[in-house]
Amino acid sequence: MFEEKSNSIARVYFFSLASNYGRILSRKNNAIRALLLLLIISTSVWLLYSKPWAATSLSQDAFGDKTAADTVNETSQSKEQIDLNVTINSRTSAFTREQFTEKALSKNGLIPVTAVLLGWKRLEGLQIIVSYISKYPFIKEIIRDFTLNNTDVVLHVFNSDENLHDLSKYTTCAMATYDYCYFQDDDWLNLYMDSIYSNFLRSPNLIHSNTMPIIHLEHRRWTFTNADKKLHTGFTWLGCGSFVPRAKVQQFLRQVGSTAMPKDRLRLLDMYFSLWTNQYPYQLSNPLTPLEQEGAWSTGVDQWAIVYANILDAVQRLFKALAVNTGSEYYVRDEERPMFNNRDVRAPCTNDKCLFLTNIDPFPSPRSVYYANNITHVHEQEARFNRLNFPSNDFWDKHAYHTAVDTNVNTCWNSFKNPKSGDYFGLQFVVPRKFNKITLTSSKDISKYDASFNIHISDNGRVWKTCNRRNLTDKENEEYLSNSQINSITIYFDCGTKGEEPTKFVKISTSRNFPEPLEICSIKLDGLEV
Ligand SMILES: *[C@@H]1O[C@H](CO)[C@@H](O)[C@H](O)[C@H]1NC(C)=O
Ligand SMILES: *[C@@H]1O[C@H](CO)[C@@H](O)[C@H](O)[C@H]1NC(C)=O
Ligand SMILES: *[C@@H]1O[C@H](CO)[C@@H](O)[C@H](O)[C@H]1NC(C)=O
Ligand SMILES: *[C@@H]1O[C@H](CO)[C@@H](O)[C@H](O)[C@H]1NC(C)=O
Ligand SMILES: *[C@@H]1O[C@H](CO)[C@@H](O)[C@H](O)[C@H]1NC(C)=O
Repeated sequence: MFEEKSNSIARVYFFSLASNYGRILSRKNNAIRALLLLLIISTSVWLLYSKPWAATSLSQDAFGDKTAADTVNETSQSKEQIDLNVTINSRTSAFTREQFTEKALSKNGLIPVTAVLLGWKRLEGLQIIVSYISKYPFIKEIIRDFTLNNTDVVLHVFNSDENLHDLSKYTTCAMATYDYCYFQDDDWLNLYMDSIYSNFLRSPNLIHSNTMPIIHLEHRRWTFTNADKKLHTGFTWLGCGSFVPRAKVQQFLRQVGSTAMPKDRLRLLDMYFSLWTNQYPYQLSNPLTPLEQEGAWSTGVDQWAIVYANILDAVQRLFKALAVNTGSEYYVRDEERPMFNNRDVRAPCTNDKCLFLTNIDPFPSPRSVYYANNITHVHEQEARFNRLNFPSNDFWDKHAYHTAVDTNVNTCWNSFKNPKSGDYFGLQFVVPRKFNKITLTSSKDISKYDASFNIHISDNGRVWKTCNRRNLTDKENEEYLSNSQINSITIYFDCGTKGEEPTKFVKISTSRNFPEPLEICSIKLDGLEV
């Protein structure tokens, strides 16, 4: 039995070496090349002599299980499948192939991306994803799991006993043609390709991930900050659709190569990657769309214990590396821009045509919890966060950012904190738009604040132009009077000559302190209602 397994493992690795060797050699970076080869060979060697792991792939499945994803029965499942097919088929990218030719790219500032789809358990799901993401022209290359449609032996080895999932994801990205990778696992479909990509374009240096609101809340607890040690990092899952700079992945492989990693951790590298970048990931939150999910968590293993243990291990190793003055060149010390407090994009619009932004963050800043590297369990870090003031799970479930832009007027974003003068919310558009009125719908009386809102537009989200209120045309006046409700206001404005051009950003700021939190259920512009 063991003999047989060893043989098949050897075959996989020879296969893997053969298929990757050419690419490795074609790369210019000798150090990375050597390291990759070393990694692949050394993992092959220890695989040959190690016992199969007990656990199957650890992924965000765990959290999916805890929410609604697995509670559907067969009837509703096939209905959802049809709805999902309709959604998938109706989605198209606002970007065009012509924008991603080499010539166009040299001028337009857009970024081509390699998608890395590895560790898929179901061919059907992989086919859906491949045909879906191929519609997005910024995905210029797709690297699939080469084992998937090969012999049973290879499939068996890679997908069950010896799942190297995480490691191969990073080695594959390191060898990608393009400078940025898109990661996607098989549990969730990312319906926000254009909008997340648009936010990624503004700060491609960072990891851009995407998760459901309640996991976002959880990830806010899993940040680790110590200004003296230049520690400023956070955890994120990557599998629900993430854009990642290849340079960070290559740096990560150097980190892994320079660390004595116990073998059971090597396959769970996802829990180390974002933490070891020593940057807070840029995470958006929205309801996720599950693909068919089979129990990915094996019985008899405490998966949460593994997650916590690996997060703590990652942070402790990072802290130690930052604490010494030499020999830690593998870890970045400077905090990258945009700084956490300046990141205001929060959630993709459900229609994938825009993103919701606000500077009002209901959660404590990462700096408000000091990490002294003297905890024995992540629960202790969580406990410090939990003593601070922030929304409960129930509140956040109901009032998370995306509820302002989900085309459902019955669900409402709630700012949780009372807006102060200068606070704002608004939209970033995937494609610039022209408009000169905005209708805001709340669940409460918002008309009393009408005079306290100001409108600003911007091309880049940094330099803003303030618009003036304008007089209504007769037709608008009629419309205004007939629509007049206390929970809805329409602001008519004129942005001067600048307003005659399509614009990429709009924000609505408050000119005074509000005595209560703000609720926004829907935002409507000329030709766009979210
Ligand atoms: C399954 O879901 C459908 C639609 O939600 C519902 O009408 C039906 O009663 C459910 N069936 C069972 C057996 O729960
Ligand atoms: C949805 O699409 C997939 C792939 O195109 C297809 O195999 C499947 O049968 C479709 N499901 C439904 C319920 O239409
Ligand atoms: C795997 O699938 C690809 C694309 O569908 C195909 O070109 C290739 O021949 C397949 N390989 C095997 C071994 O079946
Ligand atoms: C950890 O360090 C912090 C700051 O130095 C200190 O306040 C706290 O008491 C320490 N906790 C433990 C368990 O040692
Ligand atoms: C708007 O209407 C007021 C009163 O009718 C008038 O005084 C003002 O000049 C008008 N402003 C513009 C920009 O037309």
